[in-house]
Amino acid sequence: MALKQKTIDLKMRMKDALKGGGSKAIEKQKAIGKLTARERILAILDPKSFHEYDLFVEHAAKDFDMDKKYLPGDGVITGTGTIMSKPVCIYAQDFTVAGGSLGWMHAKKITKIMDHAMKLKVPIIGINDSGGARIQEGVNSLAGYGEIFYRNTKASGMIPQISVILGPCAGGAVYSPALTDFVFVVDNISKMFITGPEVIKTVLGEEISMEKLGGAKVHAETTGNAHFYAESEQECFDQIKQLISFIPWNNKRKAMSFPKKQPKSKAYNIESIIPTDPSTPYDVRDVIKAISDDSEFLEVQELFAANIVIGYARLQGETVAFVANQPLVLAGVLDVDSSDKAARFIRYCDSFNIPIVTLVDLPGYLPGIDQEHAGVIRHGAKVLYAYSEATVPKITLILRKAYGGGYIAMCSHHLRADFVMAWPTAEIAVMGPEGAANIIFRKEIATAENPDEMRKQKVDEYRTKFANPYVAAAYGYIDAVIEPFETRKKLIHALEISANKTEEALDKKHGVPPF
Ligand code: HXC
Repeated sequence: MALKQKTIDLKMRMKDALKGGGSKAIEKQKAIGKLTARERILAILDPKSFHEYDLFVEHAAKDFDMDKKYLPGDGVITGTGTIMSKPVCIYAQDFTVAGGSLGWMHAKKITKIMDHAMKLKVPIIGINDSGGARIQEGVNSLAGYGEIFYRNTKASGMIPQISVILGPCAGGAVYSPALTDFVFVVDNISKMFITGPEVIKTVLGEEISMEKLGGAKVHAETTGNAHFYAESEQECFDQIKQLISFIPWNNKRKAMSFPKKQPKSKAYNIESIIPTDPSTPYDVRDVIKAISDDSEFLEVQELFAANIVIGYARLQGETVAFVANQPLVLAGVLDVDSSDKAARFIRYCDSFNIPIVTLVDLPGYLPGIDQEHAGVIRHGAKVLYAYSEATVPKITLILRKAYGGGYIAMCSHHLRADFVMAWPTAEIAVMGPEGAANIIFRKEIATAENPDEMRKQKVDEYRTKFANPYVAAAYGYIDAVIEPFETRKKLIHALEISANKTEEALDKKHGVPPF
């Protein structure tokens, strides 16, 4: 065959493969607001940067008449491209082809691109839209998932792994995302569950809709499986690009530097964010925005365990991670979910060389039977572990309350913060003045002529003595008491001089965190 003929043959083959599951299946996708797998990849990557591989891979299954079926690309599209001119590896499952179900060759395409990502040290983005293990392929589908999970684990802490859930994802299709660093969901489109409503009805007799069982809101708000929630696919893709701008390409690099910008000080006046009354809440995100370049803050897991705020910002053009108690929600306490949320984020930042700024304002760990029985001891310990283990620059600023275990856990000097600063509004004590006075002055209060007056007097006495940063500063547990307006300057300096921080690796394989 002459080259011209061979080129025509190639084009015909490509045309067939590019049809996906055909126009009817594509129309069904579009009717529910979904893009096709290829459109999704093109929308995430820089224009004209996508290079597809393994377009001609076909399944090799024989049972259940599979040998008579042609599944273009075996239901998954893989390749490389760029985001902000930086390379990434990417794959997208094509629901129009056998429901994006994962057979052996489908899995091989995914594991091949994952292996590339690990070798090339670039992020891997997986767009999941799949009914899980391809039932007709039996144990080979399970083997395929096992190979993916193994690679997810191997890649963890080496390259960023981003999962985008853009369809009904069941079984193995949700366990791979659960092993990755960031999971993106879209309202009405994303569904995640181990077993769907049908199985639940058969096995347990319980009825529930797909949306209520594992819709986007459920995972963004309740389970914490999702890190970013969007109203549309386009918004989701914009979020992915924003995240990518903040995180390093691999664990040996720093994140991209951006031009330095001042915070929007008119919108976020740092002097007036914290209310005069120490028990009045405020939004700690305003403090972050008052400090950060251009007041830009990318919040992670915004809707889950909102009593702690985590996310990325820039100071002088460089990425920093913020971990901050949120006085607006449950007074910013640490509980089971907020501990999990913070600990995982701290470990991610530590793996990827992102310095951590911790903003403290909390009354401590949340007391209660529910919390105790839900394992607040084990979950809360994760925060202690994650901060103690982290060797990236760790800067702590105590804004207001730092009581009890909360003081220690929120990156105190004792867990090896590099610098701990406090505003004059900081109160560092074993507990709040009211609780403390009721315990240590119980007898005086009970026997006083006017117990209420005596309680007030003792509360004031305790507050004057301990509810300030100076006792801790006298022991050197706080390095500097600073005025709010100095915060940005002080943080930038602390981060700049910590830039080359190194700590010797310990002589052990790995620790055993309280998972
Ligand atoms: C083979 C599958 C499939 C699967 C879907 N399809 N899931 N084919 N194996 N797992 C096919 C359907 O037969 C159908 O083919 C097409 O995909 C579209 O599916 P529909 O059911 O029409 O779509 P929809 O109504 O939107 O429902 C989507 C769904 C549902 C919720 C995902 O298909 C479903 O419940 N699938 C099974 C989910 C599941 O239990 N998977 C196994 C998980 S076990 P046609 O030809 O009709 O278009 C697992 C093991 C690993 O993954 C565990 C690791 C820990």
